[in-house]
Amino acid sequence: MTFSYPGRSDPVLDGIDLELRAGTSTAVVGVNGAGKTTLVSLLSRLREPTTGRITADGVDLRELDPAGWQRTVAVVFQDPVRYPLSAYDNVALGAIEHHGDREGVEAVAERAGFAGVVEGLPHGWDTLLTRELPGGVDLSGGQWQRLALARALFAARHGARVLVLDEPTSALDVRGEAAFYERFLDITRGLTTVVISHRFATVRRAGTVCVLDSGRVTERGTHDELVAAGGTYAEMYAVQAARFAP
Ligand SMILES: Nc1ncnc2c1ncn2[C@@H]1O[C@H](COP(=O)(O)OP(=O)(O)OP(=O)(O)O)[C@@H](O)[C@H]1O
Ligand SMILES: [Mg+2]
Repeated sequence: MTFSYPGRSDPVLDGIDLELRAGTSTAVVGVNGAGKTTLVSLLSRLREPTTGRITADGVDLRELDPAGWQRTVAVVFQDPVRYPLSAYDNVALGAIEHHGDREGVEAVAERAGFAGVVEGLPHGWDTLLTRELPGGVDLSGGQWQRLALARALFAARHGARVLVLDEPTSALDVRGEAAFYERFLDITRGLTTVVISHRFATVRRAGTVCVLDSGRVTERGTHDELVAAGGTYAEMYAVQAARFAP
């Protein structure tokens, strides 16, 4: 599969071959601009491949009903979508046809570390999350990230089977990030997960790690296998490990 942005001749993804097995977790790593977020937009069908195809259970995504696929895949974007609605509606939009599932909204908020944020809001779940409206407040980047994770978990609660996380902890504080790692396997159990991250604490937990470089998957294996292989991944890992060494 290849993908080029309109008006640009050089492909961002060039002959990429990536298989996601149902129920497994895959981490995608690569330098800034490697095409990771572009890959997410293709998986969520916001964009279509320029050549080749993406298949789910052998079926070309283009042949599937777009609304059905959007219910199957829950995405936490690098820059989360911020709806000028209440905190409750912002989470419930993960599965809008189950808007009344208040218990579910509260349960996913707990798991995503968003419940504590809601407690601090002036009108709790009814608080409007925009400064543009009277009585509304804005959230911080990390709080929006927690909300986005809760929204995706709400989608998963109501049938989404694929969870795609594009740098889900980049704006979280140290404690929030540690809590997220601890819950990561629990949060994603039973789902097909793709997580994009520059943090090896997240990456190493994934069953399979893929290195994206110049539009291709250049390395693929478990964290331990790739470290032992001594390639790009091992190099990236060594740099980060050295930085955090005591
Ligand atoms: N909307 C767009 N139009 C044209 N080019 C784009 C667009 N979005 C991204 N690109 C280009 O595509 C390439 C890959 O970008 P992408 O955002 O997928 O990288 P990334 O791996 O997610 O990087 P990062 O680690 O910084 O998030 C970059 O060269 C970027 O300039
Ligand atoms: Mg990106």
